[in-house]
Amino acid sequence: MVSKGTILVTGGAGYIGSHTVVELHNAGYKTLIVDNLSNSRIEVLDGIEKIIGERPLFFQIDCNDKQALAKVFEENDITATIHFAASKAVGESVEKPLLYYKNNIGSLINLLECMTVYQTKAIVFSSSCTVYGQPEHLPVNESAPILPAVSPYGCTKQVNENIIRDAINSGVNYKATLLRYFNPIGAHPSGFIGEEPNGVPQNLITFLTQTVAGIRKELSVFGTDYNTPDGSCIRDYIDVVDLAKAHIAALDYMLEDKEDTPNIDVFNIGTGVGLSVLELIKYFEQATGEKIPHKYVDRRAGDIEAVWADAHKANTILQWKALTPIEETLRNAWQWQCNIAKR
Ligand SMILES: NC(=O)c1ccc[n+]([C@@H]2O[C@H](COP(=O)([O-])OP(=O)(O)OC[C@H]3O[C@@H](n4cnc5c(N)ncnc54)[C@H](O)[C@@H]3O)[C@@H](O)[C@H]2O)c1
Repeated sequence: MVSKGTILVTGGAGYIGSHTVVELHNAGYKTLIVDNLSNSRIEVLDGIEKIIGERPLFFQIDCNDKQALAKVFEENDITATIHFAASKAVGESVEKPLLYYKNNIGSLINLLECMTVYQTKAIVFSSSCTVYGQPEHLPVNESAPILPAVSPYGCTKQVNENIIRDAINSGVNYKATLLRYFNPIGAHPSGFIGEEPNGVPQNLITFLTQTVAGIRKELSVFGTDYNTPDGSCIRDYIDVVDLAKAHIAALDYMLEDKEDTPNIDVFNIGTGVGLSVLELIKYFEQATGEKIPHKYVDRRAGDIEAVWADAHKANTILQWKALTPIEETLRNAWQWQCNIAKR
């Protein structure tokens, strides 16, 4: 297959990045990973290699190291970038705000500066539905107001979006797509890659699978008195492979370079369906036959009640749609947890 170009994937050893590297390969792109392994392991490359049959090019570099990053651009003909590299734990960001501002904002600025110097054509940026806070109307669409962030992490995503928008408005040479992810879950169906964070998982499903595996004692359901049908919070859980494919759709969209493609665009990436925490537990138990030890506790500060996506814009313009049934996503997540335990 003729290569469609080389994509620099920052944070490509991480959870969403590793799945995206696989999908980039499947779609005919070459990849090059830049990751400092602050929240990932080098063994992820073995998992990617098992799936795609070749080892991705990897540079252990911190995106805040401008010189090292520029050298990667200097030595490789990079068509476009996908910027996953960031610190992402909401709670930690409250304790260490400066670390979050430095990492998430400094790394983006370095990357954009390199893209200008080396004439890169496009960037896909990992944003989040946290920018909406608790939306007034559900499902939430891209024109909903951006509410004041409740955590330094959320604030970095808003600032990052503004930085990219301002850079584009200043007339730079590249296009940008901001993808606002809802709640990524699951793992690759091969069982070779999945989420394996350092420390306590932030992601509900990874906490849940670790609980079933006996690594965590029990799952806490935070709040059962929300104004939702069963009282627990509602989220839009998006399969990580479906999410990875959205990045390919965004790149294709920008690199086709049609006359009417805007220089910057923003898309919700979700299923369009909200599931409560209790429904998710029920689906997991049905899909895997495993019982989840869980308890009900008070609401957690900072949690919003309910959010799910209006994903019509991505469905129509990017021609992308979430396709994986929730049961399959949950089975893949459990299979991944079982495979980790065997190591
Ligand atoms: N997972 C989610 O629930 C979620 C939701 C919305 C948005 N996002 C965003 O998506 C992106 C990827 O998330 P993820 O879940 O794959 O996280 P992750 O932590 O698994 O992946 C991020 C990767 O970036 C690397 N990294 C961090 N700082 C770096 C730096 N300065 N230089 C080089 N590498 C660096 C980490 O080592 C890690 O491998 C992040 O920007 C995150 O904020 C994630």
